[in-house]
Order: sequence, then C-alpha cells, then structure tokens
Amino acid sequence: MRAVRIVELEGPEAVEVGEAAEPADPGAVVVDVHAAGVAFPDVLLSRGQYQYRPELPFVPGSEVAGVVRGAPEGSGFAAGDRVVGLTGFGGGMAEVATVPPSMTFRLPDNVSFEAGAGLLFNDLTVHFALGRRGGLREGETVLVHGAAGGIGTSALRLAGPMGAGRVVAVVSTEEKAEVARAAGATDVVLTDGWRDRVKELTDGRGVDVVVDPVGGDRFTDSLRSLAPAGRVLVIGFTGGEIPTVKVNRLLLNNVDVRGVGWGAWWLSHPEYLAEQWAAYEPLLASGALPVPEPVLHPLDGAAEAIASLERRTALGKVVLKVR
Ligand SMILES: NC(=O)c1ccc[n+]([C@@H]2O[C@H](COP(=O)([O-])OP(=O)(O)OC[C@H]3O[C@@H](n4cnc5c(N)ncnc54)[C@H](OP(=O)(O)O)[C@@H]3O)[C@@H](O)[C@H]2O)c1
Repeated sequence: MRAVRIVELEGPEAVEVGEAAEPADPGAVVVDVHAAGVAFPDVLLSRGQYQYRPELPFVPGSEVAGVVRGAPEGSGFAAGDRVVGLTGFGGGMAEVATVPPSMTFRLPDNVSFEAGAGLLFNDLTVHFALGRRGGLREGETVLVHGAAGGIGTSALRLAGPMGAGRVVAVVSTEEKAEVARAAGATDVVLTDGWRDRVKELTDGRGVDVVVDPVGGDRFTDSLRSLAPAGRVLVIGFTGGEIPTVKVNRLLLNNVDVRGVGWGAWWLSHPEYLAEQWAAYEPLLASGALPVPEPVLHPLDGAAEAIASLERRTALGKVVLKVR
C-alpha cells in the first residue's frame, strides 16, 4: 500500500510518501482509507517532540474515514460499512489502516469521507472540554483562541449546540477571521489587543469559558478576561511556551484553570468514547452540528499539509484525500 512515512525526525518537510506493508491485527477493524485527518500532534511526531515516540520509520495519522474491508466477529462492523475511526497512535495516513473496534464509528450518510476524517479528534476533544471538563451552562459566553485552527473551529461549531449563548473567536489575521465567522463565531477579534476588545464586547463582565489550544503569553490575559466562576480550559500549546499560573489570581476572582487531556481520559475510562459518540452522533446526523468542508491535500502532498499547521497557515481542518 501507499503510505505517508516519517523516516527521520526532521519535521514535516522531511515526511515521505512511499510503499509500506499493510498493517495486520486480527483484533482490529481493517479500513480501506478514503481520507485521513492531519492534526497538530503529527507536526510534533515529525520532530520527535510528542509525548509518544514511535520507532522509525512509522506512519503518522490518528484519524481516518473509509470503508470496512474486514472486521472481527462480534465487533458490530462488517465489510462495506462506512466508518470513521481513531487509530490511537499513528497509522492513519495510508491506504489501509487498522482501528480498534471501540474506536470505530458508523459515519452518518450525510457526512462525506473527507469531512468525516477531520471530525473525531477535534470534535470529541472539544466535546469533552466544554462538557465534562468545562461544565458549560446554557447561555454562557465562550472565548476561543486559535479559532481558525482544528480545535478552534470545532469549538466554534460545538459551543452553540452545547448551549453557549455567545462565541467569541480570537484569530491572528483577517483571512482567519473569515474562517472563524463561517465556523459559527458570533464575534471575532484579532490577537493584537484582543483582551480590551473582549472587555468592551462583554461590557466589562468577561467571558465564562476560555478554550485555549495556544498557551504562551496570552494565558494570563485569558485569566484576566474571565467573569466570576469562569474557567480556562488548557488544551494545548501551539504558541510554544507552557504558561505558569499565579494562583492568587484564581482566588481573587473565583476562577478555575482546568486541564483537558482527552486521550488520557478515554484511555483510563474505556466506556467513555462510546458514551461520547452516543451524545455526539445525533448532532451530526440531524445536521444540528454543521460539518465544514476541510482543506484537502492529496496523499502525495502530506509534507505540505503537515507543514501548513507548523507554519500557522492552515485555514480550518486539514485532511488528506487518500482515494
Ligand atoms: N488536550 C487534548 O486532549 C488535545 C487534543 C487534540 C489537540 N490538542 C492540542 O491542541 C493544539 C491545537 O491543535 P490544532 O489541531 O487546533 O492546531 P492548528 O489547527 O494548527 O491550530 C492552532 C492555532 O494556534 C494558533 N497559534 C498561535 N501561535 C502559534 C504558533 N506559534 N504556531 C502555530 N500556531 C499558532 C494559530 O492561530 P492564530 O494564527 O489565529 O493565532 C493556529 O490556528 C495542539 O497543541 C494539539 O496538540 C490537545
């Protein structure tokens, strides 16, 4: 089969596309992959900077959409089923992938393979973040950093259907502002001077929840932008620097900083993914949750696709079209 391969830890540009052996796992669902999602961990993996470091060479990619070729008995899947799946740790950017049955889900007919391949990783992270970790309540205001990125656009799409009354996007360029509006932001502010704009927009009250996949130097301003009982959800550090918290700020304003480690949660709570899918799938199938068209790259363009996340030029969710 053809597959994307990381052969050295020299970053996205060094990623190759070539022949690889088809994966074999009798306990897994075998999927003929039509599309594969690209996510920030693929950037980190290509530099050996992710918490998980597979042996070289390896195939990156943690989310796929395609058609089942074969499935273990009793798994609930059969050849021909349209599915999306999380591969766990790599192997997704290939013509054939193996997916644990507990991480394979039937793709609703109204969602294309290309759109479906980009949904699970970010949407289920954000669903966990806003719901279980963030305790989002009806009518609350949510602010989203990195709002035109993968996690960001998911947060903009899901916040409304999960109850938010207002969703404020923070982005670095006008071009990204368009992406954020299309994804469902009710207000968009640019990173330069964002804190003052948010203060104005909320009449000085602040926001209830901050979704933060960026970290870095804007973190303290996120804390300062919270309304009483507000929560900052720590999701990632694309800005590079891991911020520190002066905990007196939490006490003074009655606010929380909450970590969001979606993978760590479902690894230790094996029933959780099925529970999440049961809550999330109806939103997809009914059309209540809009499904955006991703930014498509061919399989051969994997290096460029992964690099667009590192260069900060990706406008929305990036997906490889495999077939
Ligand atoms: N905790 C979890 O369970 C979990 C799950 C999934 C992903 N994540 C993490 O969430 C983070 C975001 O992932 P993603 O897929 O949304 O990434 P993405 O699509 O690349 O978006 C990240 C956004 O970060 C902003 N950014 C600010 N400074 C940046 C810099 N120096 N380099 C690159 N981007 C920068 C950019 O927006 P502006 O240009 O508008 O500022 C960009 O759109 C990653 O760290 C990922 O590992 C965590």
